[in-house]
Amino acid sequence: MHKSNRQILSKLIVFVKPMLPVMVIAIAMGTIGFLAAILIPVLGAQGVVHIMEGRTLRTIVIAMAACAVLRGVLRYAEQACNHYIAFRLLAHIRDLVFGKLRALSCAKLEGRDKGNFISLITSDVELLEVFYAHTISPVCIALLVSAICVAWQASMHGVLAFIALAGYATVGIGIPFWLSKTSAKAGKAFREQAGAQNAMVLESVRGMKELLWFQAANRRKEQILQSTKELASKEKKIKQGMAKGVSATNVCVIAFTVLTLLASMALARQGMVVSDVVLMAPMLMISSFGPVIALSNLGTGLAQTLGAGERLLDLLEEEAAMEEVEDGADAAFGSIAVENVDFAYGKERVLQNFSTQIPKNRILGIQGKSGCGKSTLLKLLMRMWDVDEGRILIDEKSIQGINTRSLRRHESYVAQETVLFHDSIARNLRIAKADASDEELVAACKKASIHDFIMSLPQGYDTPVAELGSSVSGGERQRLGLARAFLHDGDVLLLDEPTSNLDSLNEGAILKAVDENKAGKTIVLVSHRTSSLQFADTILKMEKT
Ligand SMILES: Nc1ncnc2c1ncn2[C@@H]1O[C@H](COP(=O)(O)OP(=O)(O)O)[C@@H](O)[C@H]1O
Ligand SMILES: [Mg+2]
Repeated sequence: MHKSNRQILSKLIVFVKPMLPVMVIAIAMGTIGFLAAILIPVLGAQGVVHIMEGRTLRTIVIAMAACAVLRGVLRYAEQACNHYIAFRLLAHIRDLVFGKLRALSCAKLEGRDKGNFISLITSDVELLEVFYAHTISPVCIALLVSAICVAWQASMHGVLAFIALAGYATVGIGIPFWLSKTSAKAGKAFREQAGAQNAMVLESVRGMKELLWFQAANRRKEQILQSTKELASKEKKIKQGMAKGVSATNVCVIAFTVLTLLASMALARQGMVVSDVVLMAPMLMISSFGPVIALSNLGTGLAQTLGAGERLLDLLEEEAAMEEVEDGADAAFGSIAVENVDFAYGKERVLQNFSTQIPKNRILGIQGKSGCGKSTLLKLLMRMWDVDEGRILIDEKSIQGINTRSLRRHESYVAQETVLFHDSIARNLRIAKADASDEELVAACKKASIHDFIMSLPQGYDTPVAELGSSVSGGERQRLGLARAFLHDGDVLLLDEPTSNLDSLNEGAILKAVDENKAGKTIVLVSHRTSSLQFADTILKMEKT
């Protein structure tokens, strides 16, 4: 659903509510700070008047110094408050996003826009920092400071107030608005190109061997160079826009100050203001543009922030494909029955009128060509998706009425590839059971025949899995996956081609480990190879529908 900018802004602002007091303090500090900064040259002007009248400068100098110190302290306090708010909010939003991710889980993570998704949870959340730390309070501060300065000018003369108002509006609203259309387009083009460029460079590094092998490195280099040139030209557009903005702003600041000077001279000549005003009013004018200039710089960033905000809000509002069950029954795992199940991903039908029985404490082997829906069946057994038609019964109860927690507790899963986190082996294993004792870890690893390997490592179970886990071979990795499953110790063990990436020696070891530990477990073993299914009690052949 497309949201208007106003909707996005108002929804983003709602998050600030619990931190309103801090926000108010930040705005107050910022406003007083700016006023202190503005006062310094205005006091200077007053000083000139004092000199001309032969009066002492002492109080004025002290006041100027006080203003300078105040400005520094208040600016610091304002920034501290704003960043406190921003980082607290980002933490909160990340928490929401991860909570949502868990609810959306498979449907979303399996989806084909995984790349987008990753940028969503990393850079988009980051972009909101600009909004919370550098947008809301500057806007309020600019409004307040400008209003006070207009009132100040009005206390000298209405015409001066009018000029000030026009000046602030031009710099703070007019120029950003004028630039926003082109800068938003240029910004978007730049970000897209930068994303493509990043992906390309990463891919090139990852595929370095292939590139060298096939002597394609030079061609690739050309492509990267080309893309870099495009990126540079897009950045140039952005910078040109910014330069236009800066020069227009400076011209306006000078123009409105000169206008104030001319107006106050005319007013003084007609005796409508005292002569001090000729010095004071232009000084006030030129020194009071700070807050609105800060606003005009927001323009480019805001378009990005709104885009990021929209994507995040869309995610947070997305309905989970699968509601977690909390008030259902707990599973007492026995047999599983799949009855007349239809299932499709969108329009892509995978299972049609599919039925099978999975008897308790047996190994069911499932064989079938790639793409025939074997993994999909396992995912349905884990209720990562709901069936479209038919039903899945666990112990004669519909899977949809079983508490999600209980379902996860009773089912263990090993996939084709085991993901290892950048952490110690012990902690990688404890993913499956957070409070597992060391003895339990060892027992599970012995079952998966990986204990000896772990003990041969320099720090045993505390050895860190090196980055990307590239130091662990495929066979070891799968055995760690199996150890996780044994540690989790569900009654149902779902194995989705756990050995398809392994050589026959490793495959044999893993299958043997499964067979030796099958007591009291209902096991579904998926493979497209007949040889892998030697230990199965029954074999089901799946066909593509
Ligand atoms: N998340 C998904 N979204 C859309 N289509 C999918 C998704 N996962 C799998 N498919 C499609 O469903 C079909 C069955 O996939 P899968 O169950 O993984 O087959 P198998 O495990 O037997 O190789 C394939 O055509 C695959 O492209
Ligand atoms: Mg599969």
